[in-house]
Amino acid sequence: MPKNNTYSLMLHGGAGTLDNVKTQEIIDHYSEQIRVILEKGRSCLLEGGSALDTVTLCASLLEDNELFNAGKGSVLNEDGEVEMDAAIMDGKTLKAGAVASIKNIKNPIKLARSILEECEHVMLIGQGANRFANHFNLEMAPSDYFLTEDRVKQWQAAYQSNRIGLDHDSQDLMEIKYDDKYGTIGAIARDINGNLAAATSTGGLVNKRYGRVGDSPIIGSGVYADNETCAVSCTGYGEDFMRTVLAKTASDLILFKGLDAEMASEQAIAYLRRKVNGRGGLILIDYNGNCAKGFTTNKMIHGWIQHGGNTYCKL
Ligand code: GLY
Repeated sequence: MPKNNTYSLMLHGGAGTLDNVKTQEIIDHYSEQIRVILEKGRSCLLEGGSALDTVTLCASLLEDNELFNAGKGSVLNEDGEVEMDAAIMDGKTLKAGAVASIKNIKNPIKLARSILEECEHVMLIGQGANRFANHFNLEMAPSDYFLTEDRVKQWQAAYQSNRIGLDHDSQDLMEIKYDDKYGTIGAIARDINGNLAAATSTGGLVNKRYGRVGDSPIIGSGVYADNETCAVSCTGYGEDFMRTVLAKTASDLILFKGLDAEMASEQAIAYLRRKVNGRGGLILIDYNGNCAKGFTTNKMIHGWIQHGGNTYCKL
């Protein structure tokens, strides 16, 4: 049972470092954006918003921000188009909603939330997901809304060199290093009633194959929430997280081994590294509201509020 009635909130904006490719001014801008969104999430929780409402809000705001590889800032696939994946999970009921390979939906996480609430299925893909979105009057966006100048340049570099990019920030895709940034966004929360929720959303990999789906919409791989254990959102090279079912692995470390938040994320990341030499990271809030994170990359963009305390951001 939860020990307290405080709230906690964590966000991530991708694993890896910005140091190689960004000026201090741009790094500060990332930090400021994470802090602003954390504060909006805090207000939601303080006003009695549920963990599910809070992660929906925070993930939507991250999707609207072109700094991050999700929603408006999504990277482009091999056809020079945006195809997005997202999922959301409610730790109280284990209900989940997920979408994969969707286009022209302004906020994929809102569509995932509608599926969680209104659909008899957990995941819808492609045109089927878009058809479902039409029933709920979710906001659509034309293709050029997503085609930001930076993303088009980045895709052109990848396409010309016939490479699938692991990074969505490198100016020159040929210079991608292990520790460059792997994009995805995530939000996890524990509300004052002890309910947990998790949301993950992404444009995937630069120049990825048409129809490729990553870990973000796969329940248990890129996202998981269970009030008995924790809420988790992952970021990184999706195939590594799918092969290790990493979000559920972290949850199982709490369920079956009784680990605390910090130990569970440490051991999950150790497993990711040992089994597949995985690239990326995770954020985790346990059922008591303790915040933890882990990553195999040099850094991970993330921020947190633990037990209603101060706002922190680390890049
Ligand atoms: N983790 C995001 C992706 O691989 O698509």
